[in-house]
Amino acid sequence: MANTIIYPGTFDPITNGHLDLIQRAGKLFGKIIIAIADSEAKQPKFSLQQRVEMTQQVVKDINNVEVHGFNTLLTEFAKQHGANMILRGLRAVTDFEYEFQLAGMNRKIAEDIETIFMTPCEQYTYVSSSLIKEIASLGGDVSQFVDPIVLKALQQ
Ligand code: COA
Repeated sequence: MANTIIYPGTFDPITNGHLDLIQRAGKLFGKIIIAIADSEAKQPKFSLQQRVEMTQQVVKDINNVEVHGFNTLLTEFAKQHGANMILRGLRAVTDFEYEFQLAGMNRKIAEDIETIFMTPCEQYTYVSSSLIKEIASLGGDVSQFVDPIVLKALQQ
């Protein structure tokens, strides 16, 4: 089984789409490190600490997953954790351009780190954290898209 892979993102908040990808990757890689970026520019709804704690609770039953927050370059974070692979999800063609740019830049910064892409289950292809937050803030039901822990946090 291959080694450690880093799954980075803002996870504001973690959705069932992210979880689906984590579960799939968990069967292929020895260890998944969920790397939660501070992503200050995105002005997250939840603080970094809240996102880390929420994600830890959501993945607590998957034994080869760790959760860390970071505010450095992703490639630096990967090196610090002895990982040479980054996992990203590709939901639709629209994701491709941004992901292609991100993977290319990361390769320029650290050429020994590879980006691996996986696709989530089709029922999650249209899920995004922004849409979940918008629907929840307008009183809509997002219970089929997030873990009950996240649902509670959104309702609060
Ligand atoms: N299921 C459901 N939704 C998914 C998903 C999946 N499998 N995969 C991604 N998404 C959604 C997210 O919810 C998010 O939605 P939103 O934009 O509505 O919030 C969107 O897709 C993309 O977000 P995410 O996957 O969290 O990525 P990001 O663009 O927020 O994060 C980082 C990008 C954190 C990986 C990047 O900014 C980074 O590496 N930062 C560290 C600093 C650095 O090294 N910068 C240089 C990079 S070259």
